[in-house]
Amino acid sequence: MDSMEVNKVLAATLVAGIAFFVTGLIGDELVRVKPLKESPLKIAAAPVQNASAPAQGPAALPALAPLLVKADVGAGEAIAKKVCSACHVFVAGGAAGIGPNLYNVVGRERASVPGYNYSNALKEKKGDWSWEELNHWLYKPAAYAPGTRMGYAGLSSAQDRANIIDYLHTLSPSPLPLPDPGAAEVAAKPDVTGPVATANVPGATPVAGSAPTKPDAAPSLDVLLVSADAKKGQADTMKYACVACHSFNEGGKAGIGPNLYNVVNGPHAHMAGYDYSAALKAKQGPWTYAELDKWLEKPSAYAPGTKMALAGVSDPKQRAEIIAYLRSLSADPAPLPTP
Ligand code: HEC
Ligand code: HEC
Repeated sequence: MDSMEVNKVLAATLVAGIAFFVTGLIGDELVRVKPLKESPLKIAAAPVQNASAPAQGPAALPALAPLLVKADVGAGEAIAKKVCSACHVFVAGGAAGIGPNLYNVVGRERASVPGYNYSNALKEKKGDWSWEELNHWLYKPAAYAPGTRMGYAGLSSAQDRANIIDYLHTLSPSPLPLPDPGAAEVAAKPDVTGPVATANVPGATPVAGSAPTKPDAAPSLDVLLVSADAKKGQADTMKYACVACHSFNEGGKAGIGPNLYNVVNGPHAHMAGYDYSAALKAKQGPWTYAELDKWLEKPSAYAPGTKMALAGVSDPKQRAEIIAYLRSLSADPAPLPTP
């Protein structure tokens, strides 16, 4: 090849690389879609395609290594506690939840926790969880391993992903050294094959700065409810991954958990045909605001033996927001308390 030809090839590669990168950025914006009009349960099954969106190739993500250098382990841990802990434990020897134990996952062979029943989609992916592989997985699990059982939309913020990967890497008797940012290729070709979900995917994107703030003096639930913002509650249901297990629309199907339309003031175990645990069925009386508040704070303490694998929502204000949102899911919302 003469040098002219070499130049052409280089130029073509560069243009392709830039196009790739820009598509990735646009994709990033598209997933940040807010209102949840359809049953969110679809995210557990398959990526939801928006018919009007152009077909996209695999996303090119910003390089991880430079973001890892400025990553915040504490922020990563907060995301893990808020979101991932609904399905994962992070301690050595911890039992699997809905998902496998994530202790020492960085550098570990994929789908390798003994005894955990992985999907074929994940088992067929050979190799180890390298930094970049984790980055692409957490961006959109369903695109990385189409058919995966991880019912989680993904983290669209590159820094959030870096924070959580940084946190995961500390969970090891001998944490691997962080990758060298100097060696980073900006548009490293991602190892993703499936269709890339675009709109309609609930963008479960907790923002690092939005960690629950502890109120100084604890206001009562009634006081919190009166001022609670149901829209924030809806956003909380994405942060806490309630949407991974529940639908919220009238007549919506059960997923891992029951449909939650009209649950406020309804009976415990309110959805006909859903297979509740004995623990929840044994509870008498309606789901009052106070009962929902106790339930959401720590499901396993409220109904020992419950099937709901959620650690709980520790912030009273966020619980009130979520309850305000649940209250709004009714043709005839229950009256607010008068504190
Ligand atoms: C709704 C439940 C759920 C949530 C929320 C969830 N996961 Fe998962 N996760 C799973 C399941 C189920 C699997 C197994 C997937 C499979 O077999 O296809 C999995 C697998 C994984 C794996 C692969 C582990 C291995 O041994 O190969 C990693 C890494 C992971 N999850 C990280 C995360 C992180 C980080 C978060 C939070 C940002 C998260 N997950 C949120 C359910 C969940
Ligand atoms: C990992 C899956 C999962 C997640 C995440 C989850 N839930 Fe659940 N939820 C369930 C299951 C399963 C049940 C049924 C529990 C039982 O039968 O013991 C349930 C039951 C409930 C009920 C009782 C419904 C009834 O008919 O009595 C409410 C209310 C509820 N969940 C709200 C929430 C909220 C709000 C969130 C987020 C803060 C959430 N859940 C997160 C799986 C989940």
